[in-house]
Amino acid sequence: MLSHLPSIREKILKLKQERRAIILAHNYQRDEVQEIADFTGDSLELSRTASTIDCDLIVFAGVNFMAESASILCPDKTVLLTEADAGCPMADMIHVDSPRRERKSFPGFHNPPPYIYPKEFTLKAIKEQYPKSPVVAYVNTTADVKADSYICCTSANIVQVIESLPDETVISVPDRNLSMWAQRNTQKKIIAWDGFCHVHERVRPEDVSKARNEHPQALVMAHPECRLEVLELADHVTSTSGMLRFAKASSAKEFIVGTEIGLMYRLKKENPEKEFYALRKDMICPNMKKTTLGSVLRALRENTYIIKVPEEIRIPAKKSLDRMLALR
Ligand code: 13P
Ligand code: SF4
Repeated sequence: MLSHLPSIREKILKLKQERRAIILAHNYQRDEVQEIADFTGDSLELSRTASTIDCDLIVFAGVNFMAESASILCPDKTVLLTEADAGCPMADMIHVDSPRRERKSFPGFHNPPPYIYPKEFTLKAIKEQYPKSPVVAYVNTTADVKADSYICCTSANIVQVIESLPDETVISVPDRNLSMWAQRNTQKKIIAWDGFCHVHERVRPEDVSKARNEHPQALVMAHPECRLEVLELADHVTSTSGMLRFAKASSAKEFIVGTEIGLMYRLKKENPEKEFYALRKDMICPNMKKTTLGSVLRALRENTYIIKVPEEIRIPAKKSLDRMLALR
């Protein structure tokens, strides 16, 4: 009956053209959001794309820190985050100079190894304790933490970033699992913050054994936000887009996927002849799933929600991002 009316997809495409907008979507977004996006990628690819893209408006389907990075890199463009409260709990686990929240706010915490820095300390305090060591900030941080750090990294390049620095000791914030993974792959000493991603933290070694028993031919891919004891059991540890490249290049036909299940969409689409199994079906990031096609349409219609990093934070934060982006 109503089939003559434009669909939500058609409305988005029309407005996108009118407003010279580009839709960037993270690999964890809902299938239909990834499908309508101009670029889908991991955090590194999305930062690189945002920094070079020709458009007036960036609609970011992701979480807050990603849209902030786009705003830091593109001050002349309007940057919209499709859902106002799409945040990253891990990014909120570190603050520049006020104590972080109580540990009990973060379910799934387990005893950290001794070199993990105590939770009571702020970034300011840890920097005072190691004044000669640069801070490497995972992009999953707020703009002010980036501004107070020396260089940024993503899950795709943390080892390369650390190796690029002349210092023998570096401070790595906020993901302890990513930091421990990097520690495995560098001779340098890493002082690690004890934040974590609740989606990846919940995976246990038993999940890997169970999945391998169910799919004995499959290779296990794991994101470095998983615990070290899980990563040690994986065949390949890499970022989300690293998994896409690995699955495509591998001669294997089956894969167990140790990251947020949104990645399944591209894995299956780009490799229709291969099979992909979630390491755990509950690896779902509620914040990444907040964005729907309705949020994208509203963003284009109503300019929701503008992300604008103030200049006094943007300029030093951009230096940290630029140092990372300069590495090839
Ligand atoms: P990547 O896509 O960069 O691997 O990041 C994962 C992530 O957790 C983003 O929130
Ligand atoms: Fe943050 Fe984890 Fe969600 Fe990524 S998957 S946005 S790290 S909570």
